[in-house]
Amino acid sequence: MKKLDGKIAIVTGASKGIGAAIAQHFAAEGAAVVVNYASSKEAADRVVEEITNAGGKAIAIQADVSKKADVEQLFAKTQQTFGKLDILVNNAAIYQYQPLEEITEQHFYEHFNLNVLGLLFATQQAVKHFGKEGGNIVNISSIASTATPANLSVYNGTKAAVDAITKSIAKELGSRNIRVNAINPGMVETEGLQAIGAIGGDFQKQIEAQTPLGRIGQPQDIALAAAFFASSDSAWITGETLIISGGL
Ligand SMILES: NC(=O)c1ccc[n+]([C@@H]2O[C@H](COP(=O)([O-])OP(=O)(O)OC[C@H]3O[C@@H](n4cnc5c(N)ncnc54)[C@H](OP(=O)(O)O)[C@@H]3O)[C@@H](O)[C@H]2O)c1
Repeated sequence: MKKLDGKIAIVTGASKGIGAAIAQHFAAEGAAVVVNYASSKEAADRVVEEITNAGGKAIAIQADVSKKADVEQLFAKTQQTFGKLDILVNNAAIYQYQPLEEITEQHFYEHFNLNVLGLLFATQQAVKHFGKEGGNIVNISSIASTATPANLSVYNGTKAAVDAITKSIAKELGSRNIRVNAINPGMVETEGLQAIGAIGGDFQKQIEAQTPLGRIGQPQDIALAAAFFASSDSAWITGETLIISGGL
């Protein structure tokens, strides 16, 4: 018996990075997975293909999670395809360096509309679609919410909001057997981090030097913990935030 046998899961932002690894790992643990993406159709299709080639079940669904109508469609299509929902992983987010003097309304709203409001829209929909037996929500936050690196204040703010929201919503939904937990990764090698130039340079070396386990993370390091929170292995855990950072 696998950890997630018979479960249906939506992973937002699963065409790349941490989301893709979570989708693949959940499928390997027996779940049927919705691989959500915003614009990278080819990458999402590749994730689905890898899952199905390995004998798993997955479909790709496009939806911009910062838009309420798109989120509603994502859940409606999941319901049509799989007939139920058990797990939501709120993973989709953006992060861009921006020193204080360069913060614009656009920078602020793009971050908060996806990282916070999109997570709330998706959570509302998940609660509507979970069955009587309850459900499971895993929010991908960040170590940035507590480590608060410079030049990332808006992003850090979104993740501090995710931590607080995780705890409040866990209280609201516990009586319905819906658990809500967050994972707060340290630096993980993903397409997104590559795009902002954080991989392979001095910054990575600095982080590695400060990390007791001596390396940055790989998406699979996060996927394993996501499966723990999404499965009955964590049946009596809710409202928690778990830093996974090699000890940093
Ligand atoms: N990498 C790290 O070191 C690190 C550390 C701590 C926390 N995190 C958190 O981990 C999560 C994943 O990060 P990552 O590094 O794996 O990111 P990534 O490589 O940039 O991938 C981001 C994913 O989100 C999707 N996405 C972007 N905008 C979207 C939208 N509006 N609607 C739906 N999907 C959207 C992207 O799909 P498209 O390409 O189709 O847009 C892509 O699949 C985020 O919550 C991030 O804050 C990452």
